[in-house]
Amino acid sequence: MPDNTSLIDHFNWRYATKVFDATRKVNDADLATLEEALRLTPSSFGLQPWHFLIVTDEEIREKLLPLSWNQKQVTECSHYFVLCTRTDVDVDYIDRFVSEIANDRGTTIEELQGYRDVMVDFVSRMPSVERLTWATRQTYLALQRLMDTAALLEIDACPMEGFSAPQYDEVLQLSEKNLTASVCCAIGYRSAEDKYASLAKSRFPKEEVISYL
Ligand SMILES: Cc1cc2nc3c(=O)[nH]c(=O)nc-3n(C[C@H](O)[C@H](O)[C@H](O)COP(=O)(O)O)c2cc1C
Repeated sequence: MPDNTSLIDHFNWRYATKVFDATRKVNDADLATLEEALRLTPSSFGLQPWHFLIVTDEEIREKLLPLSWNQKQVTECSHYFVLCTRTDVDVDYIDRFVSEIANDRGTTIEELQGYRDVMVDFVSRMPSVERLTWATRQTYLALQRLMDTAALLEIDACPMEGFSAPQYDEVLQLSEKNLTASVCCAIGYRSAEDKYASLAKSRFPKEEVISYL
């Protein structure tokens, strides 16, 4: 476990990387850790309304570049993560999730009926736009999980909202998979040329953002 100082050092070390060293790739072991950290992200009710698409294909990345404000991180990073939100969180999806819990925990669907009904009620009450907003919030938790894990592994990252989600959905054929692109994260290693690496962190003072009652 990192100690308190080391943890904060890592969070100071990280920054939204603008220029990646295109020659350096994240190795398989680190990639597997990032994947597992993502998979373990907590979500409301545990419903995991997401899918993580890792784009390595250069041609696809070239197509995404102009749809991403021409941000070079898309093509120069090692692995480009597109964090997608599910658009099909409905009763069938919840039933599939309940089966998964029963399987993982060696229990029965009948025993989980109450929990299932609460989830169905929660989800069914939301109009579809609100449901997507709720699901998207869960996807952002995964973004944070990915960035923090990368920082602890001393892998660089750039979270990215600067892209056209409808166009990503089309190019990556997400709609047919009941997905929509919510947020992206370029992962890799900073280039020595990236002047942003040496900028001081800019954050409001602690007294302004944290208080006790
Ligand atoms: C959700 C989100 C979306 C962002 N989108 C972009 C982006 O499209 N391009 C970019 O260069 N930086 C993007 N950033 C990076 C922020 O500008 C950066 O995190 C912020 O200025 C704080 O700086 P730091 O991360 O270097 O500490 C994004 C950050 C977040 C959290």
